This record gives sequence, structure tokens and C-alpha cells, in this order.
Amino acid sequence: MALDVAPEELDKCIRQFLAAGGHGLNVTVPHKQDVLPLLDELTDRAKLAGAVNTITQKEDGKLSGDNTDGVGLIADLQTNLGYAIKGSNILVLGAGGATRGILPPLLDQRPHSLLIANRTVKRAQQLVEDFAAYGELHACGFDELEDRDFDLILNATSAGLKGDLPPFPKSIIGPETVCYDLSYSMHETPFVSWSKGMGCQRVYQGWGMLVEQAAESFTLWRGVRPNTQDVLSRLP
Ligand code: ATR
Repeated sequence: MALDVAPEELDKCIRQFLAAGGHGLNVTVPHKQDVLPLLDELTDRAKLAGAVNTITQKEDGKLSGDNTDGVGLIADLQTNLGYAIKGSNILVLGAGGATRGILPPLLDQRPHSLLIANRTVKRAQQLVEDFAAYGELHACGFDELEDRDFDLILNATSAGLKGDLPPFPKSIIGPETVCYDLSYSMHETPFVSWSKGMGCQRVYQGWGMLVEQAAESFTLWRGVRPNTQDVLSRLP
């Protein structure tokens, strides 16, 4: 079931859904930060992300917030797409909530390097400070990407939601680069179209991440991990 909820209805809608027997629910854009004050407790990874995509009602009635987005991305990249993060050179575009959610599980896989490029360089530098304990990472602006290419590029900007595409240099795409847009759409996202236009051979949008984060959340609610292959085979 999917519910389209106005920000001012969020609290009421969540409580009604749980009162009707739901164990928990996923939350997505634009509510991932707005739900924080409605929750009784947060897991460490939700605190780190500063965003919640999974709400669980515990036996004592308390609402717990978690974030399964990062785990979902890693499962899609490594299990579904067969991409080995270990030892690879990764570029993350964007330094907002989506990036915060994926940094610890990405660094956990021991990439060779991880660079965050953002329109507002200060925000990327702040992430380098905040996540230094999880591994080595660096920050820069889009203009500093010229003449560098990467094994994996993750688009975590929200620019595509408005149909925008930041000015990424063509050079970031090498012959073997994998491009992955955390956003998804029934049509190609602007980043996916751009990557293909730049000659990238392996381009994905975040449908698999959506399915895998949902499977992870379902496991938290029900104690059973659903097999995602059937759903994945039906995606656009
Ligand atoms: P989310 O939770 O989806 O990550 P967010 O915290 O608002 O949302 O962050 C949005 C990210 O997309 C930021 O990195 C933002 O860049 P700034 O930090 O410079 O604002 C990036 N972004 C959004 N629109 C953009 C655009 N048109 N061009 C470049 N970057 C953009």
C-alpha cells in the first residue's frame, strides 16, 4: 500500500496506519527528516543519516526510526549487479541526507577511495569531518573533477527530481565506469540519460535499491527476509 501524505497530515496518518494493525512502514521523500520529531527513538544508523526511511512500532508502543537505505544500496550493487565495492574508486555526487545514509555502509566495504563532490563544497567537507571515523574520504566541487575518472559514480543529488542536471565534467566517465542514480523514475532520470550520452555502458537507476531497502525493512518488522528476485525481475 502507498499513501500520499501532506506534511501536516504525517503524524496523524502514521498513527492511524499503526492503529489499524501495521507493524511498521517505510517513509520516503520529502518526509525522511520530517518524521524525526515524531519518533521515540532512533537507531545509530538513522542518527548518522539524520534521516529515517523505516518506522517500527515496538511492543511497548514506542516508535523506532531506522534507515535501511544504505544497506539496500549495497545489496543492489553487490548482490544484484555483481559490483565489487572493495578496492574501487568511488565518486558520490551530492552531500545531503541521501549521501549521509550511504556513507557508513559504503566505507564498510573498503573502497580504494571515496570522493564526495557537491555544488556547495562546504557541505561535502562537513561530511568528510563527520564520517572520518568510518574510513578515508575526500571532498571537492564539481569543477575539481575535470580529468579524473572513477570506477563507480553514485548520483545522490536531488537535482533530477526537478529535472535538473548539475554540470558534471564528461571526464569522470571512463571505459569501465558504472553509473548509479539513487533516484528512480518510470522514464530515464536526467543523470541516467547524461551517463548514457557520455558513453557509459553500465548505467542503473535506484529501483533495485528501493526494493532492497524495503526487503530489509520488512525483515525488521516480520523477522523474515523476502526473496527480492521476483520483484526485481518485474522492474522497468
Ligand atoms: P536529500 O535528502 O535528497 O539528499 P538534501 O539534503 O536537500 O536532500 O540534499 C540535496 C543534495 O542535492 C545536495 O547535495 C544539493 O546540493 P547543495 O548542497 O549544493 O544544495 C544537491 N542538489 C540539489 N539540486 C541541485 C542542483 N540543481 N545542482 C546541483 N546539486 C543539487
